[in-house]
Amino acid sequence: MTIPNPAPASPRSARKENWTILELLRWTTQHFQRCGIETARLDAECLLAFALGVERMRLYLDFDKPVTQSERAVFRELVRRRGGERVPVAQLVGRKEFWSLPLRVAPGVLAPRPETETLVEAALELLPDPDAEARVLDLGTGSGAVALAIAHERPGARITATDISPAALEIARENAEELGMSQRICLLVGSLFEPVAGERFDLVVSNPPYVAESLRSSLPPELDHEPPLALFAGPDGLGVLRPLVQGVEAVLAPGGGVALELSSEQAARVAGWCCEAGLLDVTLRRDLAGRPRVVTAKGGD
Ligand SMILES: C[S@@+](CC[C@H](N)C(=O)[O-])C[C@H]1O[C@@H](n2cnc3c(N)ncnc32)[C@H](O)[C@@H]1O
Repeated sequence: MTIPNPAPASPRSARKENWTILELLRWTTQHFQRCGIETARLDAECLLAFALGVERMRLYLDFDKPVTQSERAVFRELVRRRGGERVPVAQLVGRKEFWSLPLRVAPGVLAPRPETETLVEAALELLPDPDAEARVLDLGTGSGAVALAIAHERPGARITATDISPAALEIARENAEELGMSQRICLLVGSLFEPVAGERFDLVVSNPPYVAESLRSSLPPELDHEPPLALFAGPDGLGVLRPLVQGVEAVLAPGGGVALELSSEQAARVAGWCCEAGLLDVTLRRDLAGRPRVVTAKGGD
């Protein structure tokens, strides 16, 4: 990507008092590029729209509009935290869209990732009838993203969403309420299957933590701002997936299905465990980049 030359003055500079939206976007995009941020222009737009209290698309209609000093002060602090501290945009603006649903996020919860929509697609295929009554377990619900996407697409489903983190469940509760779905989602705190002992589900879906502790120091700096409990799962990253696969058959109703997100390096191994656990129709599903990122399977009858 080419960086325009000469570089414009910083928005902090006393030399330039009047900044338009387009000038600020250009300056900030270059600044973020220099910081090594791949989505520099997009991030600049999201943060400026947030600072101005408008939709991102509004910026395009108002490119020549001047930005006031107080608006610039708000924006400058956001730019500093994004470029300097590498805080993710979702954490700065407190919101992230997932499955076209506007979700609230906060420091105690993982901001949902676009690739997790592959998990939702796989889960919905396991519940093909949109109106059928179904009991669904979302294990490790975080912001509630997966549970809410399924509830949105399957009006007949009742979802139990669990998490080991009470802080995450609080955000999931707020999201369920904001989206008018709290009646259909039961939130329970606890590890793995402990909160749902004795229950059976037609679908178990989970995006558990699956990053290996050994990778911690080599990860992008943005991940320092996400809760470690949502990312890391033991030395090989399989500390949650392993017991999840071993225990899932016991909570599946006859003919029920399971869909699990994982890293592409773990896919073959976890699929093997599913077979060993007696699950049927074990299948790997690929993300848009062609990597195997979700394993699905069915329980026995
Ligand atoms: C990768 S995040 C996924 C969050 C959300 N489902 C999503 O896709 O955006 C994993 C979640 O699992 C939770 N978690 C970690 N260990 C757990 C355990 N043993 N039992 C239940 N939840 C756990 C974390 O607190 C975190 O919210």
